[in-house]
Amino acid sequence: MTFKKNILCIGAGYVGGPTMAMIAYKCPQYKVTVVDTNPTRIAEWNSDDLPIYEPGLDEIVKATRGRNLFFSTEIERGIKEAEIIFVSVNTPTKTFGAGAGMAADLQYWEKTASQIRNCAESHKIIVEKSTLPVKTALAMERILTSQENDTHFDVVSNPEFLAEGTAIKDLEDPDRVLIGSRETQSGFKARDELVEIYTNWVPKERIITSNIWSSELSKLVANAFLSQRISSINSITALCEKTEADITEVAKAVGTDSRVGNKFLNASVGFGGSCFKKDILNLVYLCRHYGLNEVASYWEGVVRINEYQKERFVLNILSAMFNTLAGKKICLLGFAFKANTGDTRESPAIFIAKKLIEEKAELVITDPEALNNARIDLDGIEGKISYIEDPYEASDGCDAIAVMTEWEIYKSLDFEKIYRSMFKPAFIFDGRNILDHKRLFEIGFNVFPIGKPSLTHF
Ligand SMILES: NC(=O)c1ccc[n+]([C@@H]2O[C@H](COP(=O)([O-])OP(=O)(O)OC[C@H]3O[C@@H](n4cnc5c(N)ncnc54)[C@H](O)[C@@H]3O)[C@@H](O)[C@H]2O)c1
Repeated sequence: MTFKKNILCIGAGYVGGPTMAMIAYKCPQYKVTVVDTNPTRIAEWNSDDLPIYEPGLDEIVKATRGRNLFFSTEIERGIKEAEIIFVSVNTPTKTFGAGAGMAADLQYWEKTASQIRNCAESHKIIVEKSTLPVKTALAMERILTSQENDTHFDVVSNPEFLAEGTAIKDLEDPDRVLIGSRETQSGFKARDELVEIYTNWVPKERIITSNIWSSELSKLVANAFLSQRISSINSITALCEKTEADITEVAKAVGTDSRVGNKFLNASVGFGGSCFKKDILNLVYLCRHYGLNEVASYWEGVVRINEYQKERFVLNILSAMFNTLAGKKICLLGFAFKANTGDTRESPAIFIAKKLIEEKAELVITDPEALNNARIDLDGIEGKISYIEDPYEASDGCDAIAVMTEWEIYKSLDFEKIYRSMFKPAFIFDGRNILDHKRLFEIGFNVFPIGKPSLTHF
């Protein structure tokens, strides 16, 4: 079968896998190949047990794999064959050298750029799908043209805005698709090729085009704004707890102003995920690099509040449980950084688990999708930790439950049964404010929500 376009994606992760599956699903006329250096990941993409959990993903992979969607470790071959190459490798925070703990670590990115340069034999459009510091396209262009050959490359920026847990819905019906290009004839042509892919299913008015630097920067700023909203509401939870105000009521009163809007105003134990913290820190680093210290400090505050919120949560547990957790058994209800994903990267549960262990508590961790990752995250930590999928079994004999993830199933658990099986006095710390606190109190629990008065029997 001949295909209209050969599309390659380098990096078969949380972004590369689902985004390419969606393109393949919506565009049977294109051949889409996803490659990765990690053979285990590729084998999993080719199996019935995909490497990531995402509602709806299995169905579209099943419909396309072997038809026009392929997963492979043959990177060089993929580069040679493709006309359009999406690069979706990881860009974590640097952990060493200059900019450690702040700047993006671009080593995987640079390796990919060099590999494309070394293997390409014909014109390619290179699409930045990873989240990158503004001006990365310039570096990419320099690497791609650093060898004497006639191959021409166009670099375009097409950041991904999907949210884990709703990735398939977000990809199928995106708020917007952003494509940034160089403002040259060749840049516009490359941009239009990408627009053509998305117009197979995305309404034209939702495809935004811009200059390449605006596109790169917009992704960092979008994540900074989203996390800023979470930190804003979370900062007020601390004040609510001191004043008997209720954060849900405050959020409703504030969010019904149409200028503010009501989304992303749920108070919680803090944000997690692989992107928010790293992207803000990246923004902070860029601002400092350009001497914009006030701007850097402003955004750094968003991360500081998030750390404060996690610390506050642990201190609240400690003080509520009579200032000692030694030997007490605490069930963490959920470990993923949000519901509907098995991803635990930067999950607040990691920080909280480690702090509770430092206090010599015993932990029982339960989660419907994230237990394997939880085991990896807490590997090597000295302390008593067990992993149990069934929440009833997990909470059996515990002194306290701490809700870490807003899984829907937790809302309808039989808390009377759970209460009966727990050690007394029994505590619940609702780090997501998803439970019926009044009802839990009536059952007998001492209840500690976030940003609301606690309900205690003593
Ligand atoms: N996870 C999200 O929700 C999300 C959303 C939007 C944007 N992003 C951005 O997308 C990018 C990828 O994120 P992710 O969550 O998919 O990361 P990930 O770690 O899940 O996947 C990255 C993949 O790239 C592979 N890789 C690294 N170097 C390679 C190379 N030289 N050749 C081939 N493969 C290579 C890794 O083996 C890995 O499988 C990041 O820049 C991230 O900031 C992520």
